[in-house]
Amino acid sequence: MSIRIAGTGSYVPDRILTNADLEKMVETSDEWIRTRTGIEERHIAAPDQPTSDLAYRASLKALEMAGITGEQIDAIVVATITPDYVFPSTGCVLQDRLGAKGAFCFDLEAACSGLLYSLEVAYSLMKTHPQRYKHVLVIGAEKLSCITDWTNRNTCVLFGDGAGAVLLENDGSDGPDCVVASDLHTDGGYGEILKMPAGGSLAPASKETVEAHEHFIHMEGKEVFKLAVNAMVNAGKTVLEEAGITPEEVNLVVPHQANSRIIYAVAPRLGVPDERVFININHYGNTSAASIGLCLDEAVRSGRIKKGDNVLLTAFGGGLTWGAMLLKF
Ligand code: UT7
Repeated sequence: MSIRIAGTGSYVPDRILTNADLEKMVETSDEWIRTRTGIEERHIAAPDQPTSDLAYRASLKALEMAGITGEQIDAIVVATITPDYVFPSTGCVLQDRLGAKGAFCFDLEAACSGLLYSLEVAYSLMKTHPQRYKHVLVIGAEKLSCITDWTNRNTCVLFGDGAGAVLLENDGSDGPDCVVASDLHTDGGYGEILKMPAGGSLAPASKETVEAHEHFIHMEGKEVFKLAVNAMVNAGKTVLEEAGITPEEVNLVVPHQANSRIIYAVAPRLGVPDERVFININHYGNTSAASIGLCLDEAVRSGRIKKGDNVLLTAFGGGLTWGAMLLKF
């Protein structure tokens, strides 16, 4: 049995919000945003377009590439911190739209590490029950614009909306698996530095929580930055060691897109030159769980990832959650 990536897909909404647009909304500048983050623009969903719609459009493309229909999907995992509802899960909404009648579906919440966590879960399901799970759809999808405080320049310049999908297939052959090694971590002790304070059972929505802007992303950026670099470097090194490959054998690093300075701090410490690092944060901003899927699809469709390539994923996000994974395409 060989578990492989049979399809990828991505989607971003049409509306583009540029740094120049943000200059009119808060006290910031295109220069500050570009030099501190690498972001030039981001895509913003329409008010009536939920996360499930972004996920649906990305999923259709992954299914098309894989040459399968919704009915053939056995499980759907949606990584998101911006579900349509608290319940039903976005996975349930998506199942209905895709016509994936036989699939069991759920959401996984690991913030920006969501796609990595979801790939690990999907892969494990397929290894454990190869007869039951032949096609598992993994999607990272976020409408971060609805939890972004558009009056706070510390955070509103960073985030964007989008979705990226990966279709895993057990093709029954004897080839190698696509997941070669992984190293995933959590440290709940740092939960305070990156969170949405209200809207859960601890602080349900109230007039006070709304007035205090507690339904938005709160982040201590500097602290997160420092932890992110070390964590992704360590996880990346562990994965390369576990996989038994050298940095020279890595064809492409696909990091979570939070800040180009973080990305360019991680790559040399892993021993991988900048030209083998995928970056598209300039067009999309930080899309949390969607970012790695957006990158993978762009890299596959543009030919930067080819069959047989070793692709190293790295992620870091709220929780704290982080990790790395080596994929063989
Ligand atoms: O995806 C999940 C994980 N997230 C991350 O990994 C994000 C990690 N953090 C970061 O990427 C960076 O910390 C930020 C991009 C969020 C901030 O960059 P920074 O270099 O850490 O800046 P800072 O927060 O230390 O702010 C430096 C200065 C401050 O002014 P003073 O106090 O030095 O006068 C800020 O008030 O920049 C100011 N500033 C801004 N100025 C113009 C903060 N935001 C802005 C802004 N425009 N949008």
